[in-house]
Amino acid sequence: MSTIQVLDRQFEVYLDTATIQSRIREMADQISSDYAGTRPLFLSILNGAFLFTADLIRSLSIDPEISFIKLASYQGMRSTGTITTAIGLEVDLTGRDVILLEDIVDTGNTLAKFIPHLLQQQPRSVRIATLLHKAEATQHPLTLDYVGFVIPNKFVVGYGLDYDGWGRQYDAIYQLASK
Ligand code: IMP
Repeated sequence: MSTIQVLDRQFEVYLDTATIQSRIREMADQISSDYAGTRPLFLSILNGAFLFTADLIRSLSIDPEISFIKLASYQGMRSTGTITTAIGLEVDLTGRDVILLEDIVDTGNTLAKFIPHLLQQQPRSVRIATLLHKAEATQHPLTLDYVGFVIPNKFVVGYGLDYDGWGRQYDAIYQLASK
């Protein structure tokens, strides 16, 4: 499908499934080599990162621990800038090597607000792996250690990403069509 309709908007395919999968395998190889001999804790940020997490994890050649957390800062097509929920963080992070898994870093507000909370638990290290990065939109000096694709500042859906709860199920990523 090259074009999809989600709610009131038309979207065009931007990254097809083969492109996404091959980049995720490269990211997994890089992470496996950087963390060889260790057992990092992957903290996957729900809801958007669930497919990215599932595919990345299955391509790793190290033995990971995985946990899921929820931090919501988005409504419709606009980031609200405030984290309304931070639930599910039950693992003790003290001394752990943590890798945060994000579907997309847009303004960077979510991670900029969450990372200080995480650091209070004194993990040994914290790195960020994000499938997508809207580099032009990011307003915080975040170090993104593993980035799948740098994308333009346009709204995207599919492969876990939603528009008001719709469109997460596609195995490709679609960009808002310019009418
Ligand atoms: P940030 O806090 O602005 O960096 O936004 C992070 C979160 O906003 C992501 O984890 C997504 O859930 C959501 N988000 C940002 N851009 C998009 C988009 O283009 N499509 C769907 N969700 C997005």
